Amino acid sequence: MRDEEKFQKIISLAKRKGFVWPSSEIYGGFSGFYDFGPLGTLLKENLKNEWKKSVIFQREDVLLIDSSIILNPKVWQASGHIKEFIDLMSECPKCKRRFKADDLEKDICPECKVKLSVPRKFNPMFKTFVGTLEDVSTQAFLRPETAQGIFINFKNVLDCFSKKLPFGIAQIGKAFRNEISPGNFLFRVREFEQIELEYFVNPKEAKKHHNFWIKERFKWYQNLGISKKNLKLYQVPKSDLAHYSKGTTEIHYLFPFSGKFEEVEGIANRGDYDLKVHHKHSKVDLRYFDEISRKKFFPYVIEPSLGIERVFLAVLCEFFSEDKERNRIVLKFPAKIAPVKVAVFPLLSNKPKLVKLARKIYQELKKEFICVFDDSGNIGKRYYRQDEIGTPFCITIDFQSLEDDTVTLRDRDTTSQIRCHRNELIKILKDKFS
Ligand code: GAP
Repeated sequence: MRDEEKFQKIISLAKRKGFVWPSSEIYGGFSGFYDFGPLGTLLKENLKNEWKKSVIFQREDVLLIDSSIILNPKVWQASGHIKEFIDLMSECPKCKRRFKADDLEKDICPECKVKLSVPRKFNPMFKTFVGTLEDVSTQAFLRPETAQGIFINFKNVLDCFSKKLPFGIAQIGKAFRNEISPGNFLFRVREFEQIELEYFVNPKEAKKHHNFWIKERFKWYQNLGISKKNLKLYQVPKSDLAHYSKGTTEIHYLFPFSGKFEEVEGIANRGDYDLKVHHKHSKVDLRYFDEISRKKFFPYVIEPSLGIERVFLAVLCEFFSEDKERNRIVLKFPAKIAPVKVAVFPLLSNKPKLVKLARKIYQELKKEFICVFDDSGNIGKRYYRQDEIGTPFCITIDFQSLEDDTVTLRDRDTTSQIRCHRNELIKILKDKFS
């Protein structure tokens, strides 16, 4: 069921607590662009790290690269993006609003209730100019996907690292699409951060690897703590496949803004489409030499691809909860993605001995975890402030601490507290986080 009220509360919390702000807000914002505040930046980094751990560091066959955002325009000519990367756009003759045809159930303007125009083709790549002339000869594009930066470096990776199939090249970086109708907060934006893996395989084994990555990626969302009932696999019908895809399965999350399962990630079998087109257009040999069969061929590519903004939005929706009994909002983030892991408080801010000890403990913990120190307002308010940003544990230094070096450790989800010695804190927290 659509839950607009919950969604608005999430957007407002994200803004109020410094997770996400509308971009250029002092000038009225800029549709489809958002800025990440300090907590949002930390959360985003944690999500990217979870992906890196799973796809790169815990494996031995994936290398990470970082290519330019603006590539030679010939790349986009060859990849088919200039011709085939097309959205269909309809316009309302009355209010002039434009809609992405795919998003519409009927060809009627939802506001004016009049028939929309016949859909026109629209290429969502952002254009720019490189050099001092501004004409067709200097026109370039901001990349709409990070994948092409990987394909054009396929030979460099092979030459430098002599990888054997199967192996992967991954990239995390900004992508840009001039979306016709950006919306639903971070769900559809014009500037986003893509995380892509291009996994090169023997064509005969493509199906096996495709199935592996679909399962692996589905598991990753559950390992983030997202409930299985809010996740779904969706096989894209042939008629809706991207121009390069032989088959795509998407991972969908049940978002409150629509009450429907919506795409978070796509896992495509791109076949040998990309290496072949770049081989042809660049006239550089992009085939792989197989030492066993002594033959050259184009590997197939399995591509798990996601926009981090969609995962970010999914975890905000998943872990947002309202504790009506205590009148508090809690982001029940698992510790590994929580932006702040521990908060340290002196019980009273006007007792120098308490503040001094609390600061000392804070300095010790800071070496191990992302921590904050807070001595403003009453202790209850401080707990609630941390609950709202998802901090799993709060430590309070009180008068007993001055006598026996023990402190209280409060659990965000249960609000229960235990008393422990300050020397045990790091071990206890590490145990809880693992
Ligand atoms: N290289 C393949 C590719 O780009 P895609 O389905 O167009 O495929 C992959 O995009 C992922 O990028 C999507 O599953 C989504 O998570 C993210 N994405 C695409 N467009 C987006 C947008 N306008 N805003 C936020 N994320 C977007």
